[in-house]
Amino acid sequence: MTDINQFIEGLPKAELHLHIEGSFEPELMFEIAKRNRIEIPFGTIEEVKEAYKFNNLQEFLDIYYAGANVLITEKDFYDLTWAYLTKIHKQNVVHTEIFFDPQTHTDRGVSFDTVITGIHRALVDGKERLGISFVLIMSFLRHLSEESAFETLKQAAPYKDWIEAVGLDSSEVGNPPSKFESVFKKALDENYLTVAHAGEEGPAEYIWEALDLLKITRNDHGNRCMDDDRLVARLVDEQMPLTLCPLSNLELKVVPDLRDHPIAKMMERGLLVTINSDDPAYFGGYMNENYIATAEALELTKDQITTLAKNGFKASWLPEEEKNQRIEEVETYYQHN
Ligand code: ADE
Ligand code: ZN
Repeated sequence: MTDINQFIEGLPKAELHLHIEGSFEPELMFEIAKRNRIEIPFGTIEEVKEAYKFNNLQEFLDIYYAGANVLITEKDFYDLTWAYLTKIHKQNVVHTEIFFDPQTHTDRGVSFDTVITGIHRALVDGKERLGISFVLIMSFLRHLSEESAFETLKQAAPYKDWIEAVGLDSSEVGNPPSKFESVFKKALDENYLTVAHAGEEGPAEYIWEALDLLKITRNDHGNRCMDDDRLVARLVDEQMPLTLCPLSNLELKVVPDLRDHPIAKMMERGLLVTINSDDPAYFGGYMNENYIATAEALELTKDQITTLAKNGFKASWLPEEEKNQRIEEVETYYQHN
């Protein structure tokens, strides 16, 4: 193992872009399918892994939603979340801000309460037993109607204390942020923070819309901002965090090779970029694998890696004091390693 890999593994990290449904490992999927007596179209783990070969976002989403179909009970959502937390605990991730997609489940007849209660209970246990602080983000599916997003926002009302922000994910091209302007306005009125996936496959124009119409606090992905100098200047000026996901970008063919990933150039231009795993069970890696693969491909220095880890905390919604404490911890780690 190289020195850099060890350095990354020991580094305290924050994750800001993770879909809990995307952390559903095949082993757990088989176990839950069995206990819920649900057929899945795979006989072995190898067959599942074989199916995880994607040419674009939509090919991935089709499989991702199919996988989520086996999640039925509160315990299923608890087990899913707990498995993710134990995994990241071993990788020194000390803070995580995770997405859940309620419509993926409520559209199948699973209640909003079942979904959020299972996830939240595991997050609370994770804080208590593993020391991992957390934030929960409710994400609307952009391939569905704005009306459906309004309905979801209504269902969330009794759980407002558990949800910090609303987000926007799923099939990007053809479903611009402007489609959801009204529901985001309502969410903002109700004091939710807002984020949105924009500029993953969609154009830079979608990032402008997310900023101007959805009033986002962070932009998820945002690779395509590099097509628009005026947009880059604005993102730098506002220090708008971009939650990048290198292995996801590679697997979904957003970049042909990790050596072509824009993250190093983005840092050079002064953008506030972070490394995240997106859907680690599908894209071959959690936080450390993302950091390691990126560092290797782009020959990042310890100094650059340290900046990325600090950015993760800086862009988080931790209380100011805790945020500064974590950044300090990263700096101390860097000084001693
Ligand atoms: N849902 C889960 N992962 C996603 C991604 N990378 N882009 C859009 N929607 C998603
Ligand atoms: Zn995502």
